[in-house]
Amino acid sequence: MKIACIGGGAAGLYFAISMKLRDPAHEIEVFERNPPGVTFGWGVVFSDLTVENITANDPVSAEIITGEFAHWDDIDVHFKGETITSGGHGFIGIGRKRLLEVLQNRARELGVVLRFETECDAGDSKWRDYDLVIAADGANSRFRDANPQAFGVDIDVRRNKFVWLGTSKVFDAFTFAFEETEHGWIWAHAYRFAPDCSTFIVECSEDTWRGFGFDKMSQDESIAACGRLFARYLDGHELQSNASHLVGSAAWLNFRRIKCERWASGNVILLGDAAHTAHFSIGSGTKLALEDAIKLADVLNRRDLSLEAALDEYQAERSLEVLKLQNSARNSTEWFETLERYTHFEPLQFAYSLLTRSQRISHENLRLRDREWLETVERWFWKRATDGRSNKTAPPMFAPFRLREMEVENRVTVSPMAMYSAVDGVPNDFHFVHYGERALGGAGLVFTEMTCVSPEGRISPGCTGMWNADHVAAWKRIVDFVHANSKAKICLQLGHSGGKGSTRLGWEGNDVPLDEGNWPVMSASDVPWSPVNQVPNPMTRADMDMVRNQFVAAVRMGLECGFDMIELHAAHGYLLSSFITPLQNKRTDEFGGPLENRLRYPLEVFAAMREAWPSDRPMSVRISATDWAGENGITPEDAVLIGEAFAQEGADLIDVSAGQTWAEQQPVYGRMFQTPFSDRVRNEGKLATMAVGNIYEPDHANSILAAGRADLVALARPHLVDPFWTLRAAAQLDYRDVHCPPQYLNGLSQLARNLKREAEAAAALRV
Ligand SMILES: Cc1cc2nc3c(=O)[nH]c(=O)nc-3n(C[C@H](O)[C@H](O)[C@H](O)COP(=O)(O)OP(=O)(O)OC[C@H]3O[C@@H](n4cnc5c(N)ncnc54)[C@H](O)[C@@H]3O)c2cc1C
Ligand SMILES: Cc1cc2nc3c(=O)[nH]c(=O)nc-3n(C[C@H](O)[C@H](O)[C@H](O)COP(=O)(O)O)c2cc1C
Repeated sequence: MKIACIGGGAAGLYFAISMKLRDPAHEIEVFERNPPGVTFGWGVVFSDLTVENITANDPVSAEIITGEFAHWDDIDVHFKGETITSGGHGFIGIGRKRLLEVLQNRARELGVVLRFETECDAGDSKWRDYDLVIAADGANSRFRDANPQAFGVDIDVRRNKFVWLGTSKVFDAFTFAFEETEHGWIWAHAYRFAPDCSTFIVECSEDTWRGFGFDKMSQDESIAACGRLFARYLDGHELQSNASHLVGSAAWLNFRRIKCERWASGNVILLGDAAHTAHFSIGSGTKLALEDAIKLADVLNRRDLSLEAALDEYQAERSLEVLKLQNSARNSTEWFETLERYTHFEPLQFAYSLLTRSQRISHENLRLRDREWLETVERWFWKRATDGRSNKTAPPMFAPFRLREMEVENRVTVSPMAMYSAVDGVPNDFHFVHYGERALGGAGLVFTEMTCVSPEGRISPGCTGMWNADHVAAWKRIVDFVHANSKAKICLQLGHSGGKGSTRLGWEGNDVPLDEGNWPVMSASDVPWSPVNQVPNPMTRADMDMVRNQFVAAVRMGLECGFDMIELHAAHGYLLSSFITPLQNKRTDEFGGPLENRLRYPLEVFAAMREAWPSDRPMSVRISATDWAGENGITPEDAVLIGEAFAQEGADLIDVSAGQTWAEQQPVYGRMFQTPFSDRVRNEGKLATMAVGNIYEPDHANSILAAGRADLVALARPHLVDPFWTLRAAAQLDYRDVHCPPQYLNGLSQLARNLKREAEAAAALRV
């Protein structure tokens, strides 16, 4: 094949090499606008896996590259006058210039024609003479942008400003240096890539950037200013830029996240940064470019594939890898964009949060990297959790947590889950066993299902209630059992279904009206949940008084039962949530319009409940932190204001759920998918929060808690099939001090022994 590679970066050169290695008969020309030896940037970081891939693909260039790698293990985080060092991270890096030099030499040796100082124009008719034109022309690809529709280009320009500099100061560790200034925080990511040279990327928010006047400075002035700001890390070494050689490049940039729906159009194929970018803070752009090149060369040389099938396979495999990395990169990008959310943390927790920001590195992962450091974090966590009383080194999920006078034994909670199994609202033997068993299972706090304050406030005829003496007696039996037989605390979740009421049992059709016996429903406005649901009656002032009083009466009954805590359910589109979300609240009175008005009634109810509940016992509120409806609905930003408003009325904990407020919601699911909302409410609102949503491994729980993304973690579905989730986690993590019913102690220690043996056997196999 006759192939033109536009761009002599890592992608273009490595593709040319990989093609020639597979079939020397290919005619390949690489066109590069810069002269050899001139490039932007300084060092690039690799992973062990990338090294394996390039070694398998071309041992010759891999040997030179790996022979010149700079290695380092530690990460130093400089923050508020402290340096937090953790080890075992195992980085390898090389100068970008040197990497390209090795690849250029290897390409020449294999017969690739390199044409430097050749600016290519996508409109030039000469590209038609080539079988394939590989657009490896980087993030600002002209060949891609000449035809954005064909490639389905999606570009997201990120908020922060950064400049990629170098220095002769040699950093022994991968260094993050955070500086607080009169214009806000500014920080550097620095690492060594050669015996005498380090990369030094400076990043800050746009406000800070303008505050410093970087927008008005020349490149040299900017560099000098950065040098002064970070002088104490540079030991007299200067910062330098090499961007000045490049056509049209500015010193300060905004990172552009690029995605393309299609990676090929006509004879043009996108490769590397032209097709996708991954934020520099996870250091994977070059890895992706090299691995793209290997895969593309592979499929193009497979005789069993047509060109079309080859390109389909190229994109299918590579885009999956890119998606995973872009997801991690997005978390990492957002962490730096919202840095000020975490600057109130103590340095140790700040460093932990930084290290786990992309969610690729978890608590146990950190233990593997540097056990001693992780144990320092665990000790710190326990000390804080116990006001200095405990010196324990143990997983954060087992640390106690105090809300008013209630102390939970550990931080795992059984999330509220409707069981749809009551008759006339009365919990029965099913509930007795269900809640009793979950309390025995070791969770620190067990929530009841949404228990309704009136018959009309039920979601379905099977919902539990709290409006008469039968309910009090039945719930009291459950609460007494929990208190007598476990260390768990039990929280009563109270709610009213609003417009989502009068529907079938959960497993007979969610939100589907009853076949017969429907009762009239009310809501903030006359907006039905869906076309098949009833049109609710907008609440009158009299309705509001009545329902508020029902909530207060239910709180008093909850007290009679001996509950430790009350939660108000103001999420998921039910009555109180219908006031909060603009998608359901269309009122024109003082309860509709801006968020402040929409919150008025839910806050009134909460305040009245708080007054009826003893001041030494805590209360929480469950909110939907997003309607999953973009700017048309509740946003995570609103969620902080909502959390703050309830906290002002005496809420001790915000239970941060999401969605179910709108039938057309567009949720983005995944592991721990709602935890970022809890993180935001907790750290912007400075409130205690509980995270929920697809948290299912002990490692998830520990990572969330240690990073300060929540104070408690709630698990719903995992507890349906495993009431003993917490005890199992204790066995898995070899944590001995968990409270276990004495009747079950034998089982727990046997499980712990078996799991330990299995782990040791697996480790021996790995060795
Ligand atoms: C601040 C920063 C830090 C980074 N750190 C890392 C890191 O640590 N590790 C890592 O793996 N990646 C890192 N990256 C990303 C990495 O630089 C890119 O992902 C990688 O360079 C992609 O390779 P590429 O060949 O696709 O594109 P590029 O390296 O951008 O190469 C494109 C080439 O095409 C040439 N070109 C463009 N247009 C034309 C034209 N019209 N005619 C002729 N030639 C043209 C350019 O001059 C350039 O040489 C970082 C990026 C940034 C911005
Ligand atoms: C069967 C079932 C019933 C639920 N009922 C309630 C409820 O009564 N009140 C509530 O606030 N959330 C309820 N939820 C939502 C859960 O509390 C939780 O937020 C959600 O399932 C996500 O957590 P998970 O991924 O751990 O399951 C219910 C979830 C399930 C699976």
